[in-house]
Amino acid sequence: MKSFASDNYSGIHPEIFEALQQANSKHQISYGDDEFTGEANRIFENIFGKVTVLYTFNGTGANVTCLKCCTLPFQAVVCSEYAHIISDECGAPTQQIGASLLPLKTPDGKLTPELIKPLLNRVGNVHNTQPKVISISQSTELGTVYSLDELKTLCDFAHDNSMYVHLDGARISNAVASLGVSLKAATVDCGVDIMSFGGTKNGLMIGEAVLIFNDELKANAPYFHKQTAQLFSKNRFIAAQFTALLTNDLWLRLATHSNKMAQLLANGVSNLPDVQITRSVDANAVFVIIPVQTIQPLRNQYPFYEWDAKTHEQRWMCSFDTTEEEVKAFVNTLKALL
Ligand SMILES: Cc1ncc(COP(=O)(O)O)c(C=O)c1O
Repeated sequence: MKSFASDNYSGIHPEIFEALQQANSKHQISYGDDEFTGEANRIFENIFGKVTVLYTFNGTGANVTCLKCCTLPFQAVVCSEYAHIISDECGAPTQQIGASLLPLKTPDGKLTPELIKPLLNRVGNVHNTQPKVISISQSTELGTVYSLDELKTLCDFAHDNSMYVHLDGARISNAVASLGVSLKAATVDCGVDIMSFGGTKNGLMIGEAVLIFNDELKANAPYFHKQTAQLFSKNRFIAAQFTALLTNDLWLRLATHSNKMAQLLANGVSNLPDVQITRSVDANAVFVIIPVQTIQPLRNQYPFYEWDAKTHEQRWMCSFDTTEEEVKAFVNTLKALL
């Protein structure tokens, strides 16, 4: 099956597979006290500076672990209405952290201080949950990317108002590839307190990493990680994949490629009649409205998801293994249907 449905439809990158095999050689201490986890931790430290790293099975688990570290049950997490934590995690964050989520309408998936300010009226009012975390996704669920200025402004605003910034980095590699800066410059240097570092959508078989930069959030984190059922006894198999991903910039090569495929796809359809690209194509997603009668026949050949059932806006997602030929064939199929 060739698909533009999701970047987690793809398989495992061969270099990641190779790393899994190498980690499979002998016995190792369990629960992250093994040499492979030590190596991955050192690489994360080389990239980000002083950081606590916890490995998780999936992105939902990473988000829940992060949010547990920075909220009390009467506090609240401010997020976009499109945030994965509110739209696609089956209520796991609210169920597991006790705090509530405060979703905000945003045209492009991004939060700004102006959007958040009205919520600060709640601060100190015992009848309201207390905003404590600003949660952003980078890249966003709409395929847009915060600029460094936008990130810094948001982090400064959060800290000025005694809030933390959580970054859902399921697609941080795509965002950083798009920004053309270092991972550190795009995260901790902007003031991000805690984040997930995505693996599964960029070539891993399984795993994400929680990165904690703010010292205030570190002490309880291992306990929350365990309570969230994300501490893998054979952690070396997650960690070894990250070592491979972070070696020789594999993360960047793969993300640059999937971003490039999204640009190729967007360029291929942008001038077609009755085709409207609806969002800025900053990373590896293309959002589009196409004539309704073409949707199902196109989807029969190349699965993809409808983003908005009311407007029939579709989401086409490119992966690290999407090829130029697949993009061209997809565009040609749409042309023929039009
Ligand atoms: C923005 C975002 N965050 C997190 C996730 C992680 O989800 P999962 O728990 O399925 O790994 C996803 C997956 O679609 C996502 O798009």
